Amino acid sequence: MTEKPLHLVVLAAGEGKRMNSGLPKVLQPIAGKPMLAHLLDAALELSPARVHVVVGHGADQVSAMLASLADDRIVTVTQRERLGTGHAVLQAMGEIPESARVMVLPGDMPLVRPETLVEFSTLAAPLAVLSFQAPDPHGYGRILRDPDGRVVGIREQRDASEAEARITEVNSGVLAADADRLNDWLDRLDNDNSQGEYYLTDCIGLAAGDGAAVEAMCCNDPEETLGANNMRQLADLDRALQRRRRNALMDAGVRMPDPDSVQVRGRVSAGRDVVIEPGAVLEGDVSLGDGVIVGVGCTLREARLAAGTRLEPYCVLDGAETTGACTVGPFARLRPGTVLAAGVRIGNFVETKNAVFGEGAKANHLSYAGDAEIGAHANLGAGTITCNYDGANKHRTIIGEDAFIGSNSALVAPVVIGDRATVGAGSVVTGEAPADALTVARARARSIPGWKRPVKKN
Ligand code: UD1
Ligand code: CA
Repeated sequence: MTEKPLHLVVLAAGEGKRMNSGLPKVLQPIAGKPMLAHLLDAALELSPARVHVVVGHGADQVSAMLASLADDRIVTVTQRERLGTGHAVLQAMGEIPESARVMVLPGDMPLVRPETLVEFSTLAAPLAVLSFQAPDPHGYGRILRDPDGRVVGIREQRDASEAEARITEVNSGVLAADADRLNDWLDRLDNDNSQGEYYLTDCIGLAAGDGAAVEAMCCNDPEETLGANNMRQLADLDRALQRRRRNALMDAGVRMPDPDSVQVRGRVSAGRDVVIEPGAVLEGDVSLGDGVIVGVGCTLREARLAAGTRLEPYCVLDGAETTGACTVGPFARLRPGTVLAAGVRIGNFVETKNAVFGEGAKANHLSYAGDAEIGAHANLGAGTITCNYDGANKHRTIIGEDAFIGSNSALVAPVVIGDRATVGAGSVVTGEAPADALTVARARARSIPGWKRPVKKN
């Protein structure tokens, strides 16, 4: 282990032409998050003193994303002309003390595991590279070794001889070095190669020429080193990350009858005997208690489901929480601020927002509960609507325990329905419906005997 302060240099100045997108390459998302943000998640596990992100193309957009991470260890440095990876690293070196250890990371390598970086960071040689065995090495820099197996250089694809091109151990793009030595090697780089670029990878040959030890650590999961140059490869990365996350959930005991159809776009924690049915999409922070069932085609974003909660198919939950076992759906939409206690039943085509349901409360069909507090065991009949918005402001609806709201009632907020109050079907209630009473607010039915239906004129 080196005691030197660790400075990371993340290369993120590239445009990614083949993406055919207005978004800089490192901001292209996988699992709903920019590639660069995934890489930084892993990199920050190294507890670096500083992370210098080299920006160029789309610098404003990249800087804005970095600012949103609100981590004061992350700083940007601008590379005005894209003259190669060596030139890019050089832009950051001015900010890095000579006594530091430097690790260079490509900004478009989102699948690298923190454990891999931590292990790599323990290599103490003046220069170290993270390599991997590529089934198809085309496009990568080849690791050159002498007959004793010592690393003596890296040859880029376009400069490789036929024999060198056959080498399958390749450069991942991750490199670590002592800052003082690296400064010297970077100063000595030239751009005398097929691309006219200052190759960072030429430092390896310079180091070997100086007699400095160069170590290569071979990453045994080549998936970790994958990058993306086009949308197809981006989709491959997304799938790989999804598979990894689903596997982790299944290893922890989650049952998924059709894992390939499940999307895990955020951080999901799950208790025992959780089932995630086909087509579910989980975004943001999602927590699933013991025995939770996420039905076919459900979308959950920032949701916390207590043990025993069952989501029937095709529910959409966003910022919703259950605090006990309850049943939701099919086809329910729970919006931010929804909290359901144990035994709550939310049925089909029910929308809730900022609504707190007490124990055993029910809204079984075709309702809207917004800015509402619903007492324990209250029952909202089919078509009950809280009229929470007057066109300018939102108002609250309070419904007491055991209240019974007849079908197709409109509760015009602010409104209070008392405990055990009954509201007749089709009522429009304003103000208050007192406890223990029947409130009916509708025109009485009138019958006209002998009335004649209109007939068509011809
Ligand atoms: C680089 C390595 C190669 C390695 C491969 C792994 C060099 C010369 N080659 O090749 O050995 O196998 O990565 O994927 O380093 N960048 C800048 N500024 C520049 C040039 C590049 O910020 O002036 C950034 C790019 O945006 C990208 C990264 O550096 O994120 C790598 O550059 P790229 O041109 O993709 O290098 P490769 O040809 O892939
Ligand atoms: Ca690349």
